[in-house]
Amino acid sequence: MSDPAAVLSARVQQAVQSAFGSDFAGIDALIRPSQFADFQANVALSLAKRLGRPPREVADAIVAAMDVDDLCSPVGISGPGFVNLTLRDEWIGDRANDQLADERLGVPRQDPQRIPIDYSAPNVAKEMHVGHLRTTVVGDALARTLEHLGHLVIRQNHIGDWGTPFGMLIEHLLEVGESSNEAGLLRSDPNAFYQAARAKFDGREEFAGRARGRVVALQAGDADTLRLWDGLITMSTGYFNRIYRQLGVTLTDDDLMGESRYNDSLPALCDELEAAGLAVVSEGALCVFLDGFTGREGKPVPLIIRKSDGGYGYGTTDLATIRYRVEQLHADRIIYVIGAPQHLHLQMVFATARLAGWLPPEIEPVHVQIGNVLGTDGKILKSRSGVPIRLGALLGEAVERAAAVVDAARPELDSDLRAAVARDVGIGAVKYADLSVGHDTEYTFDFDRMLALTGNTAPYLQYASARIFSILRRAGADTGIGAIVLGEPAERRLALELLGYGAAVVEVGDLLEPHRLCTYLFSLAQSFTSFYDSCPVLRAEDPAVRSSRLALCALTSRVLVQGLQLLGVNAPAQM
Ligand code: ARG
Repeated sequence: MSDPAAVLSARVQQAVQSAFGSDFAGIDALIRPSQFADFQANVALSLAKRLGRPPREVADAIVAAMDVDDLCSPVGISGPGFVNLTLRDEWIGDRANDQLADERLGVPRQDPQRIPIDYSAPNVAKEMHVGHLRTTVVGDALARTLEHLGHLVIRQNHIGDWGTPFGMLIEHLLEVGESSNEAGLLRSDPNAFYQAARAKFDGREEFAGRARGRVVALQAGDADTLRLWDGLITMSTGYFNRIYRQLGVTLTDDDLMGESRYNDSLPALCDELEAAGLAVVSEGALCVFLDGFTGREGKPVPLIIRKSDGGYGYGTTDLATIRYRVEQLHADRIIYVIGAPQHLHLQMVFATARLAGWLPPEIEPVHVQIGNVLGTDGKILKSRSGVPIRLGALLGEAVERAAAVVDAARPELDSDLRAAVARDVGIGAVKYADLSVGHDTEYTFDFDRMLALTGNTAPYLQYASARIFSILRRAGADTGIGAIVLGEPAERRLALELLGYGAAVVEVGDLLEPHRLCTYLFSLAQSFTSFYDSCPVLRAEDPAVRSSRLALCALTSRVLVQGLQLLGVNAPAQM
């Protein structure tokens, strides 16, 4: 164990027990970073209340019982009873050396859980929009992180591949011809394809009639109709995959598990709910009414599971996803990375699944709520003409803007290399902007801010990391990395920060909040900058100091690169 806060917490707990008895085993030592010492333990205050003794006296007793000479310099007390804990330089240095020798860099391997994670979920024959971008990017960072922590992550791309619009889409596909340029729009500009189909549907009654007949044929499983439908899906997933590759997202065709895959299970699902008395027919629709879910004027809000026309909605398919993930995928934890406006809907789905007995009490489904992406005008991001922004074009613009910066800053680099760096920086900037704020907060999509070389941005971290690569390159082949021995305060701060990496990754996995890793990496890069400003590395006179500082550089580099990788952001070797 090398996370300083966790090590100190265990020692303080031991001291509390030996001073006050085993009744207090497992008490939270309340270790917090502090400006007066590396950390403070705030446990004496709460303990004093329980014991009915003055906090200062309790703190004295804890300090007297503490066995930390190997770990801390003398322990002091400040304020009403805070225990100040300052780690020994040797301890920090030794742990940093362990971390450098550890291929996992101090990230623990947790007891493996099976974790289906539902993210991205774009719709067939529709452009992906920035909302999909965000659930894709956040979901992918969570999938990568949980996998790295040792879990079996099962990606579930719940694409919108079913429903009444498929009647008109299939009829349009037939009219234009399956291998026509118009059909090819599904791969390059799906909204154009959709709108052309829509225009025919709205404008030609005989077309609309055929489209409605097509829906019936599709639902009845007509072979020819299914083949055409399948062609639509394949072209659309070709488009999704192009965006995923452009983004560096790990989703593949193996992860597709769209709405249509649940069709066969929906009638029985409704029957079971009805038989159990959980669903009732109301105004022709089959509905579940749940305690505690009421709308305006206290009117109960139903979860509609079969509409009055016999069709099924999101509520029904989402219930089916739970059953599938519990029964077939044997989930320990189920994650839904979906827009925040869907929160009420998902809570009703989860509650219904519990009542129906499909979601055992030990399995906690989690809705990772994704906040809206706004334009600089403060409204939901749209292009000027009000149509949804094309994601491919948006990513292209990010790379172009990054290219302008890279071309100006590094004209001497080979043009292919510059283009590769621009891709890493442009895409990294967009993804990092999604990740670095709380996933449930709204944020403003602003190219200038996300591409800035200062502040909590991908380019800042990528630049810091490229700078370290350059130091290590200049150090030469026999780099001369040696044992970390701490002297200067900036070295100590950097090493202490590095030791917090494992805990930061664990926190992302526990709380499902990637922005915590961003905050950690940003702070690490800042500590590195102060270290590098005050401690010469290659020009250090004493060879032992030089090799220790090179080791700190190497460790910082590995943590930055791996941390960015868990977020899905590439760290270019030069910048
Ligand atoms: N396809 C839907 C949309 O684009 C999102 C589906 C979210 N996932 C789910 N399991 N309901 O709005």
